[in-house]
Amino acid sequence: MINVFQPSLGVEELAAVKDVFDSGWVGKGPRTTRFEAELAGHLGVPAAHVVSMNSCTEAMFLAVELLGIGPGDEVVLPAVSFVGAANAVAARGGTVRFCDVDPASLNPRPDHVERMLTGRTKAVLVLHYGGFPGWVAEIAALCHDRGIALVEDAACSIASRVDGRACGTFGDVGAWSFDAMKILVTGDGGLLYARDPELAVRARRDGYLGMDKVSGFSQVAHADRWWEFEVCSFGRRSVTNDLAAAIGLVQLGRLAGFMRRRREIAAAYDAELAGVPGLRTPPPLPAGHESSHWLYWIRLDERVRDAVARRLYEREVYTTFRYPPLHRMPIYGADRTALPGAEQAAAETLCLPMHQSLTDADVAQVVAEVRAAVAAETTFARR
Ligand SMILES: Cc1ncc(COP(=O)(O)O)c(C=O)c1O
Repeated sequence: MINVFQPSLGVEELAAVKDVFDSGWVGKGPRTTRFEAELAGHLGVPAAHVVSMNSCTEAMFLAVELLGIGPGDEVVLPAVSFVGAANAVAARGGTVRFCDVDPASLNPRPDHVERMLTGRTKAVLVLHYGGFPGWVAEIAALCHDRGIALVEDAACSIASRVDGRACGTFGDVGAWSFDAMKILVTGDGGLLYARDPELAVRARRDGYLGMDKVSGFSQVAHADRWWEFEVCSFGRRSVTNDLAAAIGLVQLGRLAGFMRRRREIAAAYDAELAGVPGLRTPPPLPAGHESSHWLYWIRLDERVRDAVARRLYEREVYTTFRYPPLHRMPIYGADRTALPGAEQAAAETLCLPMHQSLTDADVAQVVAEVRAAVAAETTFARR
């Protein structure tokens, strides 16, 4: 089976893990600090503004808390969002207001967001679909003009940029994911960026049980009673550890190579699938935009999409669709009519295998199977 997602973990990561074992300390420690600093450098922000997390979802839950979102506050999210983003808002008693998306890029346009803003909108929370930056710069400007916070779910955007600026750093808070299906993988892991340094300090504190003065080996030499601490908030435990950080440091060093391969694969799919009757490839990236190419998606007639997916599965090519629109879900209101772009995207989008370990032969096989499946199902649907 050719997988949709697959991490690239090998001997270098194993050696880094062995070093952590040998050090006698696997918890949050010096490697975590180095990982944060190197990620900050990669994103082009000061290290004091980033905090490593145990997942992107956790970073988004923390972001909603840090921004003081609660009952009576509305947060606008694209209907095509990762469920953890909406859960983060709803869990704090905030009201999720779903906006529509452009069915070709699956990203919201500024007018989609603007239409949903009310006097009670406290924040906008957008992702960059599949790593495509979309209209994040324009949405950031809109939020700035209206005095509304912007949170970026940059889970799939570790290498996405607009005019050199990293996605996830356009808004007030950004959150990245290093889970098992992402590009840079640490098993589980995440990162939070806060534009306001004070918010970053609070993220660090609230993400570690709200403890102000943390005891531990790093402070033993300086404290008479190193076991004492203050608690400043009812914080949670969002921290990662040196095992994950050691893997992440190796993965960050390999990221440029991963991205080269992903760009090659996206270009090959574009070239080989463009012009296939009944199939549309993703829109071209605008000038100045760089994608992480986390997803590669095609658009098919909604009458054949599921049958094509099933046929591909039978031919050992695994596909998927990210993300089933949340506004359809009963817990979020089950509104089936209001957002036509999201409905269309959900009916016709199919995500193909996309990871840096795909060989040229894998890519050729996916292309051949997709061409055959689309041709067969389209002929069948016409009968
Ligand atoms: C857009 C998006 N946001 C957030 C997440 C969640 O990341 P994590 O597993 O690190 O919580 C995912 C995971 O697939 C995602 O695709």
